[in-house]
Amino acid sequence: MLALHGGSPYRDVKSDPFPTRTPFGDEEIRLVTQALRSQNLFRWGGELTPRFEQRFAAAYGAKHAVGSTSGTAALHVAMGAVNPEPGDEIITSAITDLGTIIPILYQNAVPVFADIEMETLTVDPEEVERLITPRTRAIIAIHLFGNACRMEALTEIAGRKGLPLIEDCCQAHLTAYQGRLLGTYGDMGCFSFQQSKHMTTGDGGMTITNDSALGRCMRMFADKHFDRDREGSRMYGPLGMNCRITELHSAVGLAQLEKVSAVVDSRNRLGSRLSEGISHVDGIDPAPVTPGARHSYWLYPMLVSGYAAGEFARALVAEGIGASAGYIGDPIFHCSAALADHQTYGDSGFPFYSPYTDRTFERADELCPRTREVLRRLVVLPFNENYSESDIDDVAGAVCKVASGLGGNR
Ligand SMILES: Cc1ncc(COP(=O)(O)O)c(C=O)c1O
Repeated sequence: MLALHGGSPYRDVKSDPFPTRTPFGDEEIRLVTQALRSQNLFRWGGELTPRFEQRFAAAYGAKHAVGSTSGTAALHVAMGAVNPEPGDEIITSAITDLGTIIPILYQNAVPVFADIEMETLTVDPEEVERLITPRTRAIIAIHLFGNACRMEALTEIAGRKGLPLIEDCCQAHLTAYQGRLLGTYGDMGCFSFQQSKHMTTGDGGMTITNDSALGRCMRMFADKHFDRDREGSRMYGPLGMNCRITELHSAVGLAQLEKVSAVVDSRNRLGSRLSEGISHVDGIDPAPVTPGARHSYWLYPMLVSGYAAGEFARALVAEGIGASAGYIGDPIFHCSAALADHQTYGDSGFPFYSPYTDRTFERADELCPRTREVLRRLVVLPFNENYSESDIDDVAGAVCKVASGLGGNR
């Protein structure tokens, strides 16, 4: 009998809890101590930030990396380098953290939402192409849950249309696609070091590029557009912001960079094992993997059909397995007053209404039917790199138990 209905749980987590994450150790402590002892925690003048940026860039085979305060800031740095005109459009997808969207609005541009593909849960390149208008200024591809967007299609479209392509890799550290790391396909790749990410500094971010002109814009934008190469006068360039990383974050980041590959290997192995363990269950689609991708499983997403995702997740929790339905619940354009009600700058509705383009964007109610379907059917299973194979087998076993206990309406 299901634990939800009074049976005993599949895993008694009181006596046998799942392992928690333990991202930090002696090396972080050593480097943080070194930063403090240096008496300089500012991003300029210390040793650790340049080293962290160089090593991060090298890990991705990129020429430039700019550290910042969050994944949101890393995306903002990329948007700052794109420098859209007010009212320009940025095409992205609608299952994401608001951190993908905030920088678009702060750069006075309008997010336009392309639907996703059921096969990959990432943006559909054909939809991206369909939504391109003369006002389109860039594309942001979101590598959801650690899976890869179809980058060959997206780079082809972006190249043909002359549009910058930004990769949101906040959930996809060291995810490979056709043998190459995500973040290096587009013009810029953006990473988050928020606590739950494959490598973490609590909060923090990094933007990478191979384009030296973009690299310089990124670095300046994140630093108030202060031209530090110019001697003698305190000269600022165009409008920028201050989202500088600190030596403390770089200290932790340097230590994390040594570990992230093992973290991603473990998550890839465990995620694949979970997929194998539930692939035979009727009404369950295991996490999709884009052909050619090596998934890094930030979270484990599965789709249920014939079951209510909320009830399925509740039943799993009763069995002792962490689970939640729907990730963000609704498309991101319904999850934020800034997007849903255009609460942006005072009462202006800007940039959804733009005097520059004399164009009004209506609320996006009917958009993205596949995105809605996925969010309705999505059950997300958190796990981490410290799980053993037998922990994963318990997760799979509980999914099988819940599926047969709930029966589905099939
Ligand atoms: C896809 C995606 N984009 C952007 C962000 C924003 O990152 P941060 O929370 O570090 O600002 C996140 C964070 O969860 C994310 O998952």
